[in-house]
Amino acid sequence: MAFPASFLDELVQRNPIEEVVGSYVSLTRRGSNMFGLCPFHSEKTASFSVAPDKGIYYCFGCHKGGGVINFVMEVESLDYPDAVRHLAKRAGMTVPEDQHHASTYKRQERLWKLCRDAARYFHTCLSEPVGAEARAYIEKRALSRGTVTRFGLGFAPDSWSGLIDAMAKLGYEKQDLIDAGLAVKGQKGGIYDRFRNRLMFPIIDLRGNVIGFGGRVMDDSTPKYLNSPETIIFNKRKNLFALNVVKKSKQGFIILTEGYMDAIALHQYGFDCAVASLGTSLTEDHANLIAKYTDKVVLTFDGDQAGQNATQRAISILEKTGVQVKVLRMQGAKDPDEFLKKYGADRFRLLLERSENHIEYRLLSLQSQYDLQQDDQRVAFLKAASELVASLNSAVEREIYGARAAEAAGITSDAMKLEVNRAFKRRMAQTRKKEQRQALQPAAQQQPKARSIHYDNIKSAMAEERLLSALVREPALFASLQGLSGGMFSSSLLGRAYDALQSMYLQHLTPNLSALDGASFSSEEMAHLSMVAGKGDGPVNHAAFDDYVSTIRAEFARAQSQQQPDLMAMRERLRQQKGYGG
Ligand code: CTP
Ligand code: MN
Repeated sequence: MAFPASFLDELVQRNPIEEVVGSYVSLTRRGSNMFGLCPFHSEKTASFSVAPDKGIYYCFGCHKGGGVINFVMEVESLDYPDAVRHLAKRAGMTVPEDQHHASTYKRQERLWKLCRDAARYFHTCLSEPVGAEARAYIEKRALSRGTVTRFGLGFAPDSWSGLIDAMAKLGYEKQDLIDAGLAVKGQKGGIYDRFRNRLMFPIIDLRGNVIGFGGRVMDDSTPKYLNSPETIIFNKRKNLFALNVVKKSKQGFIILTEGYMDAIALHQYGFDCAVASLGTSLTEDHANLIAKYTDKVVLTFDGDQAGQNATQRAISILEKTGVQVKVLRMQGAKDPDEFLKKYGADRFRLLLERSENHIEYRLLSLQSQYDLQQDDQRVAFLKAASELVASLNSAVEREIYGARAAEAAGITSDAMKLEVNRAFKRRMAQTRKKEQRQALQPAAQQQPKARSIHYDNIKSAMAEERLLSALVREPALFASLQGLSGGMFSSSLLGRAYDALQSMYLQHLTPNLSALDGASFSSEEMAHLSMVAGKGDGPVNHAAFDDYVSTIRAEFARAQSQQQPDLMAMRERLRQQKGYGG
């Protein structure tokens, strides 16, 4: 949705970036900028910068950046409108909502409230006479009182309308219960409770809203788990069980499990960093969500074939986000819950420490694809293994894993070393060639880090970057730019930013990157613009400024004239085809 520019302008003014960021990151001033440890990736030296005068932040380590709204989106995992609402609340402003969005949001708020009340109802039932069987089951599963409270577990009585009736008393309509996935419409138009005679696990999002439930039977009947359907507040592909608790964990890594019970058991045994997917396989959204909170993930999926396949999939999805992935293998138990009960927390911690990094895991998987009793298969395995080992950057690691592969295939580690070295040299030669090729075109180095953004004309783009940076520092310079428009920029992104800033200037608002409309600029684009604005510092050199403008105009004119001959030739061809003379 689009918020009015004047509203965004005020919002940004009333939420100084150094204050907002400062409540998450401790910042120290260095010159006109402030520095701190980046909240988006783990680091020991501060490469995260805030420029209060420009209203932006930028991390030189992970290249995240943007204005105050982007920061809140990133750090609180909110979408653009919610980040705006968050800041509005912080500054005590009311949000001018657009009609459609306002009504969806109102609806969501109602369903969040309903789900919270439903969770309370289920939780209460657990301690009443009706919940005796559930309490016995909880005891059988050895869940402590503290665990039951922390996760807000509850019990849905064996009744067709227990929840419906209780919620009606609180003023909820039938439609509310249906929309929240808590009730189901029957054949004859009546409605009945979806969850009956089940142990209830509330699913809570990052903002603390109850968005859905998982319900487990307490015997062997099926389905074992029943989950809330997709609703306007519940999306399985975007939420993880217990992430709301884990986000406060200090462990520095996240344990990803397959089951609610596994995550809960881990928490009870002191591993407060366990999450579970919601009965779906891991999605890219899940991976990105996880990567916001940690750079290390340990996978503890079931040992069966399905679990192994899920592990391979999860590794490749998680690796794309840059997090380090380890795989924990259990013996003697099918899942973490069972393992903890059988062997205790210390044994599990040992497994965690020994969990294989993905190279070990991949070596073992590779190994299982070959019959190492046969010579030709052994050769094939060693070839594949040496390629894998050669992809490691550290010589020590190449040595260790090379030796391990050699042992598996029953050859000497010297022979393996030779093979790995050969593969490693091949790789080096390839990279060198690639680097040489890049060095021959220095312009390539000026290209934006984000792959989705590309400069077609480096010379002009550099001038455009510097012009934008100058304008953010000294908006009055807009007055000297009559006739210059974003359409003349070689980079469409920089051009769009120019137009947006200019329009703020013309509306007598402060041209500010932070107030750019989040609907028109992706977070990747905002990060790039933030880096661009951060490049310049201090007072603007006016002579240089005029140079940027001339360069942009000249390059635009040149591009036009290059198109011209083509156009003329085309016109000529058309004329001839149609048989017009001269
Ligand atoms: N699941 C589901 N629907 C089912 C079975 C499983 O949604 N019919 C999901 C649940 O999220 C469950 C997870 O898959 O937590 C893993 O299933 P499973 O290993 O069978 O359950 P556990 O979590 O181990 O539960 P328990 O220990 O109580 O058997
Ligand atoms: Mn289990």
